Amino acid sequence: MSRLAIYPGSFDPITRGHEDLIRRSLAFVDRVIVAVAVNVTKQPLFTSEERLALIREAVSDTRVDVRSFDGLLVDFARAAGATVIIRGLRAVSDFEYEFQMALMNRTLAPGIETVFLVPAFDLTYLSSSLVREVARFGGDVSSLVHPVVQQGLKRKYGR
Ligand code: PNS
Repeated sequence: MSRLAIYPGSFDPITRGHEDLIRRSLAFVDRVIVAVAVNVTKQPLFTSEERLALIREAVSDTRVDVRSFDGLLVDFARAAGATVIIRGLRAVSDFEYEFQMALMNRTLAPGIETVFLVPAFDLTYLSSSLVREVARFGGDVSSLVHPVVQQGLKRKYGR
């Protein structure tokens, strides 16, 4: 039986850290759906269409599907037939929110297990918000994101 995981997030934009977690997930599941949340509470820099397009260009593995979702993550996961939700844990500061979310998702959908993955050591400090901030002020993000994302950031910030 093929095992499917959902890797949800805002991906505003996708970073090398996200790419690393997708690769790591494929070591123990057969397919991954990268699920881009449309209605994120924070005002995103990239539209959901742009975020989807950047992920599709940055991730070429045929075992990875990229989709957007609206509403509850567990509803989307159930409808897709996923049994695993992937989330990254970078630092202790991530833990409280992630723990709450995992327990809430388990309450809503007991058959779906959240699996936390730790990114590569040199990517643990990385986040989309830091990437946006560095790019906004003209800093070099070439080692932090795929070249298409770097281009996208240049277009947004005009530098
Ligand atoms: O990359 P992010 O912003 O940390 O991702 C958070 C996300 C999108 C995974 C989370 O906010 C989410 O699952 N939103 C969908 C709505 C939902 O199911 N909320 C209840 C989670 S307990």
